[in-house]
Amino acid sequence: MSGSNVPQPLIEARNLTMRFGGVTAIANVDLSVAEGELRCLIGPNGAGKSTFFKMLTGQVMPSEGEILFRGTRINGFEPHDIARLGIGIKTQVPNVFDGLTVRENLWIAASRRNRGKATERAVARELERLELGSIADRLVGQLAHGQRQWIELGLVLLTEPALILLDEPAAGMTEDETVRTAKLIGIIKQSCALIVVEHDMKFIRMIASRITVFDRGRILVEGEADAVLSDQRVRDVYLGKRAA
Ligand SMILES: Nc1ncnc2c1ncn2[C@@H]1O[C@H](COP(=O)(O)OP(=O)(O)O)[C@@H](O)[C@H]1O
Ligand SMILES: [Mg+2]
Repeated sequence: MSGSNVPQPLIEARNLTMRFGGVTAIANVDLSVAEGELRCLIGPNGAGKSTFFKMLTGQVMPSEGEILFRGTRINGFEPHDIARLGIGIKTQVPNVFDGLTVRENLWIAASRRNRGKATERAVARELERLELGSIADRLVGQLAHGQRQWIELGLVLLTEPALILLDEPAAGMTEDETVRTAKLIGIIKQSCALIVVEHDMKFIRMIASRITVFDRGRILVEGEADAVLSDQRVRDVYLGKRAA
């Protein structure tokens, strides 16, 4: 450790670059997220958000640069190794057992970290925190889309990650489900850091946090929600206008 008072970032990308053949999806990106921070990544289609995310989760290997998690270089690690280090990933691909109840699904996740009574306590805590108590004994296969998403969040939380990566958590949700998801993110951020890729601006405003805007593989603007969302450059890229 250095003697400076600047805390080490939780996760840091340095000069991160990803090329697919002739396409540079991410170009020399430097980005860091602190312990406990909630960060949103936004940007127009094709900006490189998903590619950046996939590098953090180990789904694609960067062409250049590095990713450090609490100082450990993780690029090239397999997704399950990244998960074991404390990065929880909630993908859009469902990861739940439809034929089991909510409680049973959570119990399976909790039992990987706990033994005996502690497993049940962890499940009860998560049901309460995510306000899923009323559907605890329902089969997951019979739940609405939004409810399934919250259960998947619960499964990730039960792995006790230091960082959770969420890929468009509000996608396909109704207005009410979106509001509830924003509220849940507010609760979750009390116990870990989050990076949220999202293009629903209403949702971004609800969770109002520090935002990094990607455009054409580079960081266009970074800052607090109010400033970023009213920034003319950000408005222009969303309207399809670009500075020369
Ligand atoms: N597997 C791939 N092969 C080739 N090009 C890709 C691949 N994945 C992404 N790209 C390209 O990289 C750029 C960034 O894409 P992406 O990361 O999906 O952007 P976003 O998620 O911001 O919409 C786009 O030009 C896209 O076509
Ligand atoms: Mg994408």
